[in-house]
Amino acid sequence: MTDRFSFDLHATDGAARTGVIHTPRGDIRTPAFMPVGTAATVKAMLPDSVAATGADVLLGNTYHLMLRPTAERIDRLGGLHGFMNWNKPILTDSGGFQVMSLAELRKLTEDGVTFRSHVDGSRHHLSPERSMEIQRLLGSDIVMAFDECPALPADRTRIEDSMRLSMRWAARSRAAFGDRPGYALFGIQQGGLERDLRAESAKALIDIGFEGYAVGGLAVGEGQEAMFGCLDYATDMLPVDKPRYLMGVGKPDDIVGAVKRGIDMMDCVLPSRSGRTGQAFTRHGVVNIKNARHQDDPRPLDEGCSCPACTGYSRAYLHHVFRAKEMISGMLLTWHNLHYFQVIMQEMRTAIAAGTFAEWEAGFHAGRAQGDI
Ligand code: GUN
Ligand code: ZN
Repeated sequence: MTDRFSFDLHATDGAARTGVIHTPRGDIRTPAFMPVGTAATVKAMLPDSVAATGADVLLGNTYHLMLRPTAERIDRLGGLHGFMNWNKPILTDSGGFQVMSLAELRKLTEDGVTFRSHVDGSRHHLSPERSMEIQRLLGSDIVMAFDECPALPADRTRIEDSMRLSMRWAARSRAAFGDRPGYALFGIQQGGLERDLRAESAKALIDIGFEGYAVGGLAVGEGQEAMFGCLDYATDMLPVDKPRYLMGVGKPDDIVGAVKRGIDMMDCVLPSRSGRTGQAFTRHGVVNIKNARHQDDPRPLDEGCSCPACTGYSRAYLHHVFRAKEMISGMLLTWHNLHYFQVIMQEMRTAIAAGTFAEWEAGFHAGRAQGDI
C-alpha cells in the first residue's frame, strides 16, 4: 500500500507493456481490464465475485450516477466505494461521452453541455468543473477529464473543433481537480483517425500534465482495422512513464491488439452485457447459449475454464436457465465472461514479462473459431 498514485513499468515486449499502478486503495496490475459498474453495480455480480475474477479496478459513470441516485447523495452516504461495497480502486468516466450517446435535447457550448435526463426528462448541466466536483463527491480514485467526441465517420472540421474544445476542457478539468494526493486525473486524447490531430491533442495534454493518458474517440464505428491503424501511432505520442487507457474497448481480439500496441488499461460492457444476452466468450470462440444445439449438451461452456459456470454446470443447464429467463443465467454467464477476460489479461501480463508475447498471441488466435462454437 502507498498513499500516492504512481505507475511502475516492469517489462516491455515490442510495444506491449506490463507493470503496476499503485493507488492508496490497492494495486492495479497492467495491462488491466476494468469491468463496467455503471450504476454502482457490475450487473448480476456481487463485488467479491468481481474481485474473484481477478479485477483490480472497476469503472463507474458520472452521467448515470449524477442522475440517479445523485453524487450528493452518494457523498452523504460516505462515497461510492462504501455505497456499492467495492473497496478497490474505481475509475469514473467524466460524463460528456455518455451525454452525447444517451441524453436527450443536448446543447453543447464552450462552457459545457446542457441536456435532459434519459431517466426522467429533468434538465442538467455538465461542465469540466461540475464533472470534477461529481467525481470528487463519488470518491473516484482515477478521474477522467471532461471531453466530447463525435461518432465516426465525421468530417475533419467537426473532429478538429471537437478535439480543440476537449483540450480546452482538459485544461479546465486539471485546474478544477486541484491538488489531491492519492487521486489521479487522466487526460483524454481525441482527434479521430487524423494523425496530425492526434499529435496536436497529445501535445496539448502533455503540456497540461496528467497522471495518465487515455485514447478516446475510438470504437465509435470505425472498425478494428482502422482502430489498430490509429493505435499504431497514437500510443507512441503519449508519455512512456504514464498509464495509457483505451476507452470502451472491446472484444477479446480488440483487447489483445490494443495491448500489443502499448495500451495498459481498457474497459468494456461487453463481458457483462453479453453475459445477460446469452453470449459467452471462450478461448475457442463465442458460444450463443440460446442456440437449441446446446439443449442436450452435458459438456461445460469451456472445459479449460475454472469459473463457477464451467465447473458446476452443463451447456444444457445454461441453455435451460437462459430460455427460462432465470436470473442465474445472467449471473453465471457474466461471471464466466469476466473470468475469461481476466484470464486473457493475466496470460498477457505473464507473456510480456517473459518476452513471449508474440508466441502467446499466435496461440490466442490459433485456438479461435470465427463463427459460433
Ligand atoms: N468511452 C469511450 N470512448 C470515450 C471517449 O472518447 N471519451 C470518454 N469520456 N469516454 C469514452
Ligand atoms: Zn467459465
